[in-house]
Amino acid sequence: MNPSDASGAFDPKQFLNVGEFESVAYARMTKMASDYFRSGAWGENTLRWNVQAWEQIRVYHRAMVDVSKRSTATTLLGSPSAFPFIIAPAALHKLACKEGEIATARAASSRGVPLILSSLSSTGVEEVCRAAKDVDVWMQLYIGKERSHVLDLAARAHAAGCKALVLTVDAPVWGVRERDIRNGFCLPPDIEVVNLMRSSRDGAGHGAEGGLTGHSGAGIAEALGWTIDASLSWKDLDWLVSKVSLPIMVKGICRVDDACRAVDAGAKGVLVSNHGGRQLDGAPATAESLEAVADAVGDRACVIVDGGIRRGVDVLRALALGAHGASAARPILWGLGAGGEAGVARVLELLQTEFDLAMALAGCATLEEITADLLLG
Ligand code: GLV
Repeated sequence: MNPSDASGAFDPKQFLNVGEFESVAYARMTKMASDYFRSGAWGENTLRWNVQAWEQIRVYHRAMVDVSKRSTATTLLGSPSAFPFIIAPAALHKLACKEGEIATARAASSRGVPLILSSLSSTGVEEVCRAAKDVDVWMQLYIGKERSHVLDLAARAHAAGCKALVLTVDAPVWGVRERDIRNGFCLPPDIEVVNLMRSSRDGAGHGAEGGLTGHSGAGIAEALGWTIDASLSWKDLDWLVSKVSLPIMVKGICRVDDACRAVDAGAKGVLVSNHGGRQLDGAPATAESLEAVADAVGDRACVIVDGGIRRGVDVLRALALGAHGASAARPILWGLGAGGEAGVARVLELLQTEFDLAMALAGCATLEEITADLLLG
């Protein structure tokens, strides 16, 4: 499809659902960029299951409920959102459109939806926080071989105004995305992983020369190997909790024991995630792991889920399974690639509008009424 107006200009209103952005966005990017965003690991089974698992959850809607007045607004870990959604972290938004994370942040701000900035972003956290002026920004972190680097970025994020830290724990090593290897994934010279550029300060050789620019090889596994560490363990979470004052969310959880361990260690929340199917292919769909994790964590922590969220009704399904909110990255990248800030704003508008209508059709006037019985009948 080609949703543009008669003059061929991007017309956000022509897009009637999030999925319609995908092919338009990928057609506007280089093959290396679109392959990087679209890929899952190995056979891409988990990538596919993530979407299918939501689609298969039936919603036993309530009849005869007055839903004439509805409210979708909420807070996630204290951060206000127009509906139970936060933008998931994704690397390198400038590969999707030249304004990159600034366009995403402005759209988030205009729609009243908070965002999680990837530490592999192509725009610095300070600039992103300024652009996201009416919403909260959380900072995603990896713990790399040089432990002090994560504290530097956490301090920088705190000073920039970020409201929470999101520690990714499903990447002791990088998952294998075969297209990236085939493409010899690298960055154009004008795009850098700016939050991780340290070489000018500490001579450690990280940054442009240790990052992705000009690199040609085995995808991020080779280019950004130094940003993660295979020895990552629970003692690193204990250590991070002891060193920072911002609340920490732990991202990449699919098991009850891990969720409880994270919360016992002081995490204020968990993100049920399999990294968009980009790490362990064979991991369960997040819709399958969510309920047990949410039950175990109970009211002790904030539970958010990402992976395969493509419709507002998926957000309703996530809440019925016990999540406080849902999150997604690829739909945002599709909006960005197709139409920059206006594209992201339209993606968020579609998700929110669909969520609001799904509430009405399911017989829920408030978020509290989205309960487990909707999935049982
Ligand atoms: C980075 O987080 C990636 O999945 O490429």
